[in-house]
Amino acid sequence: MSFRETFFNKIFTLRNLFFFFNFLVLALFLYALSLDWNREWKPYQKEYKTREHNKQPLEIKQILATDFNRVDRCITCHTGYDSFTNPTLTNGYKDHPYAAPQNAIHQKHPFEKYGCAVCHEGQGLATTFVDAAHMPKDENQKKEWEKKYHWEIVEFWEQPMKAGPLLYASCSKCHQAHPKVAGMESLKKGEKLVFENGCIGCHQIRGEGGTIAPDLAEETSVKPLTRIDFGPAINAGLISKKERTLENWIRLHFATAPQVLTPGDPEGHLSADPKHPQAVAPSGMPYFGFNKEETEALVAYVTSLKREKIPYIYYREAPPKYEPVFTDAAQHGRYVFQKYGCTGCHGKNANKGIPVFNRQGQRAPDLVKTVGTFTREELIKKIQTGVNPEVKENPQGPTPPLYMPTFKEKIKGTELEDLVTYLTSIAEKTEEW
Ligand code: HEC
Ligand code: HEC
Ligand code: HEC
Ligand code: HEC
Ligand code: HEC
Repeated sequence: MSFRETFFNKIFTLRNLFFFFNFLVLALFLYALSLDWNREWKPYQKEYKTREHNKQPLEIKQILATDFNRVDRCITCHTGYDSFTNPTLTNGYKDHPYAAPQNAIHQKHPFEKYGCAVCHEGQGLATTFVDAAHMPKDENQKKEWEKKYHWEIVEFWEQPMKAGPLLYASCSKCHQAHPKVAGMESLKKGEKLVFENGCIGCHQIRGEGGTIAPDLAEETSVKPLTRIDFGPAINAGLISKKERTLENWIRLHFATAPQVLTPGDPEGHLSADPKHPQAVAPSGMPYFGFNKEETEALVAYVTSLKREKIPYIYYREAPPKYEPVFTDAAQHGRYVFQKYGCTGCHGKNANKGIPVFNRQGQRAPDLVKTVGTFTREELIKKIQTGVNPEVKENPQGPTPPLYMPTFKEKIKGTELEDLVTYLTSIAEKTEEW
């Protein structure tokens, strides 16, 4: 018998195949059973029940937060927050996931209605530590988690858990003002920085502000990861491929020069038609040089602008905001200068134009130096109509990314008059002969 005959008659027979596949199915079944047996959450629940001398069955536990369209299984491991196992919802344990310390915020938002992820974010349905999208609050915790849980960021899960002060960004989904609780400091600081630095001169927040840059609330705070080009940041070694999160994207805009993140194509090398290269200027956003604390405050604030569909009964509207009152016209004008974000391009004291790529002089004007050369009427006209288009430094180069926008529809009446009074009050005195 040739090898071929032996093979088909003796070995590769239907009967043998039948046995082989039966064994395979059995093996897979046992494997699945062992996976189920070894579910990551089981030892946590077991340990909790041992500590509490409790004989309830081991099971996946979940909260149906139907009002928010969420199903959260966090209590499968965080058993102390399961009202069935632990009706008081507090205990004295110090170690997570067993700990359920007294927590005033938890008490004000009953878990059976809110679930967990509406505040903490993360992946409510997940039953493993990594998939729940826990986020470390610092480098040390990150290293510890990598060792202990093989922690990594869940790639392209849009809502990783919020750690540290960033957790308080979630509150604004319902509380349109910042609730007066400890932990809100960072968010409030972020809001103040946004006001003082004139982000709104270029960005909008829910439709209010400049049109040069994305709406930080309606676009940025809900930006899908697939719409973010992390390439330049990764190439520059600022983050790794595994760190592509929206929070990091926002953070990088303060931690580094935005031109590194959005380099444009100033020479037009990437143009589709090399005969008529289309140069694109790098980002027009200035590098503010915020420190770490300021950076985190800004990340907290920008992420707090996110809104999601939440039933109206859960909204707590902000009380009306009153404009501060000024008796001095120039001081009111200075406030107007901040309020509309003139500071974003002209500096906090109107004496520092930010860099503007390929604009003649490469900067926005230093108003302290230039406003003295205009009459009141000319200043009003500049503010009302804006200045566009610009003279380029290099005619072949890209259009400058920034220009003086029009404020015609926004600044009128006393605001306009006082703004101009402010500008004329700061004008550098030229020597008079
Ligand atoms: C597989 C079990 C498991 C699930 C599911 C789980 N957790 Fe955890 N969680 C843990 C463990 C374990 C820790 C402790 C981590 C450590 O060692 O620091 C923890 C820690 C935490 C912490 C504290 C983090 C810190 O800074 O110390 C929070 C907050 C938290 N979990 C929230 C949640 C939320 C919200 C969910 C649901 C979306 C969830 N967890 C789902 C196991 C789980
Ligand atoms: C209304 C918002 C809200 C909801 C809903 C909520 N939490 Fe919290 N949670 C908080 C806040 C705020 C803190 C306090 C963080 C701090 O102390 O800085 C906190 C703290 C925690 C901690 C302790 C973290 C630490 O650093 O020690 C854990 C664990 C936790 N929550 C788990 C849960 C679980 C599980 C659920 C759902 C059953 C839940 N939370 C629901 C807002 C919420
Ligand atoms: C899903 C919506 C929602 C989220 C998210 C939420 N809250 Fe609330 N919160 C409410 C509602 C509704 C009440 C009022 C409850 C009542 O009237 O009994 C409330 C009550 C409170 C109260 C009691 C005082 C008051 O204003 O009535 C505080 C304090 C509070 N929330 C703080 C927070 C903080 C801090 C966070 C974020 C960690 C947060 N909330 C997240 C909806 C929410
Ligand atoms: C002079 C104009 C200007 C000012 C002032 C400015 N930005 Fe920007 N910013 C931009 C432009 C333009 C972009 C669009 C992307 C790019 O070209 O870099 C941008 C992008 C961003 C992004 C990423 C947005 C997204 O959707 O991808 C964030 C976050 C951001 N800016 C926050 C701020 C904050 C906060 C401030 C104030 C502290 C600020 N910016 C001030 C011009 C500005
Ligand atoms: C997006 C950036 C940006 C913002 C925001 C901005 N400016 Fe300007 N501004 C410019 C640029 C660029 C010029 C120079 C225009 C040109 O080419 O002549 C300019 C010119 C001016 C001038 C004329 C001075 C000169 O030397 O030409 C005045 C006055 C002025 N801005 C006032 C304001 C005021 C007041 C606000 C706020 C209401 C404001 N700007 C907001 C960018 C900006």
